[in-house]
Amino acid sequence: MKKIVVNQCKRLEGVVSVPGDKSISHRAVMLGALARGQTVIHNFLMAEDCISTIACFRALGVKIEQNDGVITVRGNGLHGLQEPQDVLDCGNSGTTARLMLGILAGQPFFSVLTGDSSLRTRPMERVVKPLTQMGANFSGRQNAKLLPLAVQGKELKGIHYQTPVASAQLKSAILLAGLFAQGVTVVEEPAPSRDHTERMLRHFGAEIKVDKRRVSVKGRPDLTGQQLIVPGDISSAAFFMVAAAIVPQSDVIIRGVGLNPTRDGIVEVLQNMGADITVFNVSDQWGEPMADLRVRGSVLKGVEIGGDIIPRLIDEIPVLAVAAAVARGKTVFRDVGELRVKETDRIAALGAELSKFGVNITERHDSFTVTGSTSLTGAVCDSHGDHRIAMAMAVAGLVAEGQTVIEHAHSVNISFPQFEHALKSLIVE
Ligand code: S3P
Repeated sequence: MKKIVVNQCKRLEGVVSVPGDKSISHRAVMLGALARGQTVIHNFLMAEDCISTIACFRALGVKIEQNDGVITVRGNGLHGLQEPQDVLDCGNSGTTARLMLGILAGQPFFSVLTGDSSLRTRPMERVVKPLTQMGANFSGRQNAKLLPLAVQGKELKGIHYQTPVASAQLKSAILLAGLFAQGVTVVEEPAPSRDHTERMLRHFGAEIKVDKRRVSVKGRPDLTGQQLIVPGDISSAAFFMVAAAIVPQSDVIIRGVGLNPTRDGIVEVLQNMGADITVFNVSDQWGEPMADLRVRGSVLKGVEIGGDIIPRLIDEIPVLAVAAAVARGKTVFRDVGELRVKETDRIAALGAELSKFGVNITERHDSFTVTGSTSLTGAVCDSHGDHRIAMAMAVAGLVAEGQTVIEHAHSVNISFPQFEHALKSLIVE
């Protein structure tokens, strides 16, 4: 059982880079597999979630090689996937499962998808419903609401679908199915979710139109293999952003962070809380912006967070709750019910773990409030099998008196295997 041990530290100083963006890495393999010709992916995230995606596509007959951190996908074109001989295992990865369901819906074969004990509890109905309307057949437990799911792909037809939640996994599943459908597929969301699928589809040659919250894709495009550099993952950078912001006198530079406007809500919120963040060296990778960030320690104040910004920082809420735990006053997180259906129930996990540090946190169904405190006490925490809870608690340990231990910390391998090493390289004893 892996543990991460963190002591209260004086300050953080130095330069770090974070591994490639998880959402973009998944999509690069998926679109590479559906394109004609070779796709070369630099700075691919070699972590468990994305390895699950690679394994699924290999099982569907796609040749994928790895050489010195560069992934080469040899695409067979839109209609080049083969029926898998065995069950496809998505591990812990919701993105793999939901986006794969979209792709498998349009295949002329049968397949079965499953995942680990966490993923088998997560809602799949949101994806199964529109894909069934497009023409695919699904069967599984509780009326095909949960993995394992059997998919009988069909000839699909384009639909116009209004999603009940702002979920990029749901939107992307429909758009990917739309690639195989007759006509145009349109998705409308209640608030904008991350748009990596749209940006990458355009880069691979699909006809994509975006009008505020409405996205449409024309079916049966010719996708062509591409060269891609994956920007650093802002969701991994978030741990260092908050760490540097809350440890007094810190001065940290994080290099090459993806700053897609549908993902950068954490920068805005931390700045509103009083954090000292400078964005510089801004560049663009095939339509995905990235930059370096400099974060210095400062005194933070509580804020209210809710509404349309939530999808722009959904995965950063665990570590933002740690920032709130040391901020002056209260921080209210509203409209965050989706946290209940992530890798674990993140509202419950934050309540259980932050209170071990002596933090006052009160939860309701789709909101929670953290009252900041000047003195946290080191604690023995549990990751709840969730990578982002493990890393967020390690950040809390930097400002808690004494020692903090995070148990079941192997879950960091889902998105950031080098996390402990990178964090410790910044600590000034
Ligand atoms: C993701 C979308 C988000 C996010 C997840 C990755 C994606 O999930 O929380 O970590 O890559 O599309 P939802 O679509 O469920 O909001």
